[in-house]
Amino acid sequence: METNQMMVEFDSRSENEAFARVAVAAFATQLNPTLEEISDIKTAVSEAVTNSIIHGYEEKPGKVRVECKLNYNTYELEIIITDWGIGITNISQAMEPLFTTKPEQERSGMGFVFMDVFMDNLSVESQPQKGCVVRMIKSIQGPGK
Ligand SMILES: Nc1ncnc2c1ncn2[C@@H]1O[C@H](COP(=O)(O)OP(=O)(O)OP(=O)(O)O)[C@@H](O)[C@H]1O
Ligand SMILES: [Mg+2]
Repeated sequence: METNQMMVEFDSRSENEAFARVAVAAFATQLNPTLEEISDIKTAVSEAVTNSIIHGYEEKPGKVRVECKLNYNTYELEIIITDWGIGITNISQAMEPLFTTKPEQERSGMGFVFMDVFMDNLSVESQPQKGCVVRMIKSIQGPGK
């Protein structure tokens, strides 16, 4: 099985959200994604990284890790976003459309919905006060498929 992997870790700062989404998109380019697939990936990464910064660390210092694994045989891209912030107590509630713990910050509670819609698989693991791991898989159509 031909695979390729990358990992970046950066400070929890909103400036790094654009960096993360572009880094993942650049890595994914190897699988010949369509513009729409690139855009889906960027949106999902942006939502997950923003959640780590805003909710996980509540804009205090911390680290966010983004791991990507791609499979040249299956054209699958796996993205894992990890933070070591406050975590989520009730994951299924957090994933419900329109649920947000920060309505005062004009959050719409749609981040997980976008991740779910734009990616082919989404799973969230979290322990309160330990952090949060978001794992997403995107199947890239690939040339001639
Ligand atoms: N990394 C995280 N650490 C801690 N809590 C999180 C994390 N990610 C999400 N949450 C919790 O899950 C809720 C739902 O997240 P979601 O991204 O769907 O909506 P939102 O961030 O509140 O609003 P939006 O993404 O639309 O701006 C958040 O309000 C927050 O309580
Ligand atoms: Mg969000």
